[in-house]
Amino acid sequence: MKRHQLIKWAVTLAASAAIIAAMFVHSPHVQAQNEGGDRDSRVEIGLHIAPVPLNLEGKNRALVGLGSYWVNAVASCNDCHDAGPATQFLPGANPYFGQPPVVNPATYLGGGQDFGPLTTTPNAPHIVSRNLTPDKTGLPEGGRSFAEFYRILTTGIDLDHLHPACSSSVTTNCLAPPFDGNLLQIMPWPSFKNMDEQDIRAIYEYLSAVPCVAGPPSPSPLHNECQ
Ligand code: HEC
Repeated sequence: MKRHQLIKWAVTLAASAAIIAAMFVHSPHVQAQNEGGDRDSRVEIGLHIAPVPLNLEGKNRALVGLGSYWVNAVASCNDCHDAGPATQFLPGANPYFGQPPVVNPATYLGGGQDFGPLTTTPNAPHIVSRNLTPDKTGLPEGGRSFAEFYRILTTGIDLDHLHPACSSSVTTNCLAPPFDGNLLQIMPWPSFKNMDEQDIRAIYEYLSAVPCVAGPPSPSPLHNECQ
């Protein structure tokens, strides 16, 4: 190899090494910037698409916005946690009729949608979505703490025991095997349990900012007492 060829080769090698080194040095920085940027745009989108007036008093605005993004743009909580397709949108504003959508605030996240029984066992309980709006305490989902909410979303446990597992001593309004009556059914907790804690926190913060929807009278578990 001639001397000038050797020099050219060495220069090319050094340049390639410098480019590779630069990629390693710069990539975490670029990723961090993208991460921050994404979060911010989701917060703004979330605040923009919330279909009801939000009470931001004493709340973390960024968390509320991010929570709205998850609830309204991704996880479609209201598709199940309203009273059903017939009243989900205001008259003349149903996107499934080809109309520009306006969500019905009277049923938004108020629960009560009946998914019917899961088994053909006589008197099998119907699975009904629950009220996620804050009650008079201001805490979401009828007064639950964040610790309880986090546990529900990550384990599917039914803290209300609405349809316990059938056993020799529990025979009425119970869920027969193979379903486990201690767990929430239909509710997509097997997917939601993979969310990171900050996102679940954001959903909780958003649910504490939406208006209270009063459920049916007590002792229905959907019951919710507004101020
Ligand atoms: C596919 C329908 C569906 C979707 C989507 C859905 N849920 Fe549910 N959820 C249900 C049903 C049905 C129940 C009641 C299940 C039962 O009784 O076994 C429930 C129960 C719950 C409970 C327990 C309530 C209580 O009183 O303990 C919480 C909390 C909850 N859902 C939050 C959410 C949130 C937050 C979202 C969106 C991120 C969501 N759900 C999306 C169907 C759904």
